[in-house]
Amino acid sequence: MFKVSKMKVSELAKFTGTSIPLVSRHFKDFDETHVTRVNNRIIGISPDAVEVYLKNVGINYFYRPAILLSANLCGGVGKTTSIYNLGASLRRIVGKNSPIVYVDGDSQGSFTSLVFGKPANDNELILIDFLEGKATIDNILTSVGDNVWFVKSNLNQAFIDKVLSKPQDIKKGMLRFYESVFEKLGKDTKIFQDHTPQISNLFASSVCALNQLDTSILKCILIPIRSDNFAIQGADYILREILDLTETFSLKDTIDIHCFFSSIDKRVSTTAEALKITGSKEKIMKNLSPVVIRYCSEITKTIMNSTNVFSSGKNNNAAEDYQDLLQYIFSCGQGKSN
Ligand SMILES: Nc1ncnc2c1ncn2[C@@H]1O[C@H](COP(=O)(O)OP(=O)(O)OP(=O)(O)O)[C@@H](O)[C@H]1O
Ligand SMILES: [Mg+2]
Repeated sequence: MFKVSKMKVSELAKFTGTSIPLVSRHFKDFDETHVTRVNNRIIGISPDAVEVYLKNVGINYFYRPAILLSANLCGGVGKTTSIYNLGASLRRIVGKNSPIVYVDGDSQGSFTSLVFGKPANDNELILIDFLEGKATIDNILTSVGDNVWFVKSNLNQAFIDKVLSKPQDIKKGMLRFYESVFEKLGKDTKIFQDHTPQISNLFASSVCALNQLDTSILKCILIPIRSDNFAIQGADYILREILDLTETFSLKDTIDIHCFFSSIDKRVSTTAEALKITGSKEKIMKNLSPVVIRYCSEITKTIMNSTNVFSSGKNNNAAEDYQDLLQYIFSCGQGKSN
């Protein structure tokens, strides 16, 4: 169900800033459990082998627990697409022993539909059931393959804010969820959580939880933006909401925030317009990622096929950009680790 292509020699060379012959030479004698070959040419390197290689060259920042939340009060900016593809890009470079957990925190269930073709059935246990104490963590984690897990959603989750209505529930609800995930799957787990384009107590609870969790965990809020006023306004509002939460719950500054253009086309005028609009928003500029995701028709195709941009193994802009964005996010986070 969940599939990603293996990393190519050229990708790994770019990733580590080394030359293609150097990477090829390193993997020359690896057997077929780690390296796929066609006519003696290496065409894919397994995540386990990539992990060992990256650690060897001193790139350690991927190998820690992580919780990444998508957010923007504007709909259709790429929250779901980004969180899905960033998780997929991580699966290619982190050994299969490190679990990846996707969480659909949107009652529209579009993330669940993207992966499973439809939202959770009424009789399936989902996040709201866990938060209400009606389900255990085992009940709500669905395996989608290769140590990748999914917490589904459907319209029943629209009532989640009622479950998380009191301040103590907001403070404890998602904390209990994350702690249960780490307890069940291990401390190397990376969680990628999607949200609805509204202010929600689920988001508030997740942000509070992130603040209470250990600093060894990479904690990130990812805010995709498009180059239009609605998306920029939505990003600005969610940044204000994060500030409000920080004041209301006396939170510490332990969360990285990254705003990034999630679908920019190559026209200079579009880029200029995007920068002009964001330029007036100080908070966005302060958190703006230099890595952008280019508009890419492959994304539309992958959504139709319930896959991600790495599944076919074909080169495409979005795959390249998401891999770069992932590296940017994790490398920025190393300053805040223990
Ligand atoms: N880089 C890109 N290139 C082309 N299309 C893109 C790109 N990024 C996102 N899209 C498209 O934009 C649309 C909206 O994306 P997505 O569903 O991820 O947004 P969202 O913020 O999660 O929306 P919602 O607020 O409804 O949950 C989708 O059809 C997706 O295919
Ligand atoms: Mg979405």
